[in-house]
Amino acid sequence: LKKIIITIDGYSSCGKSTLAKQLARELDYVYIDSGAMYRAITLYFLQNRVDWTDVAAVKAALADIHLEFVPNADKTQSDIYLNGENVELPIRDMLVADKVSEVAAIREVREFAVARQQQMGERKGIVMDGRDIGTTVFPHAELKIFMTADTAVRVERRFKELYARNKNITIQEVKENLELRDFIDSNREISPLRKAEDAIILDNSELSMDDQLRLALQWVDDVL
Ligand code: C5P
Repeated sequence: LKKIIITIDGYSSCGKSTLAKQLARELDYVYIDSGAMYRAITLYFLQNRVDWTDVAAVKAALADIHLEFVPNADKTQSDIYLNGENVELPIRDMLVADKVSEVAAIREVREFAVARQQQMGERKGIVMDGRDIGTTVFPHAELKIFMTADTAVRVERRFKELYARNKNITIQEVKENLELRDFIDSNREISPLRKAEDAIILDNSELSMDDQLRLALQWVDDVL
């Protein structure tokens, strides 16, 4: 059976990674969370007090950043490692979420991340989720999905996820962060969040996880 590239883009907390993981498991593909790369870079910038408004400082920092996806117990999934350290948990913190869209708008940061993402897709058999995967990273992907969901649904999902780890978090804070990131991601100059012309829209506000998987598998069948 031929292997393809599947891209999943969309607004924050639409359930992109849930669908991407489901598809990777079902098809025995590799799942790559491109947002984890921007988050890990942001974590490094924060930890090392990098002034990311200074291009030279950004370049020097990127030269020192080594990112790697290492498969974890679930073989279709992986954890992201920043200079040898598993940062899968700290990159989900609000401190990182608050700054990641600013960092992800920087040209040098995007070039660094996109080059690695394209390398990982060379052998196909990959599902990658993000904001610009169907438009910039893999413009020739065989299947492109653009996910949306109602804001209230998205806020609630992300709140539940974050609250499980941090009881101090508030709904308001989560809502503001999602709206801010969506705004910056959609309005930045380089590779803004857009639906690729040939992407299929998937609104999962009222779909169960089984429903969305069944739909997406149908689309996979259609292109195979
Ligand atoms: O997917 P996630 O919400 O973890 O992504 C975090 C942030 O990383 C996004 O809000 C966006 O600013 C950035 N990002 C991006 N391009 C991607 C994936 C993520 O700019 N392909």
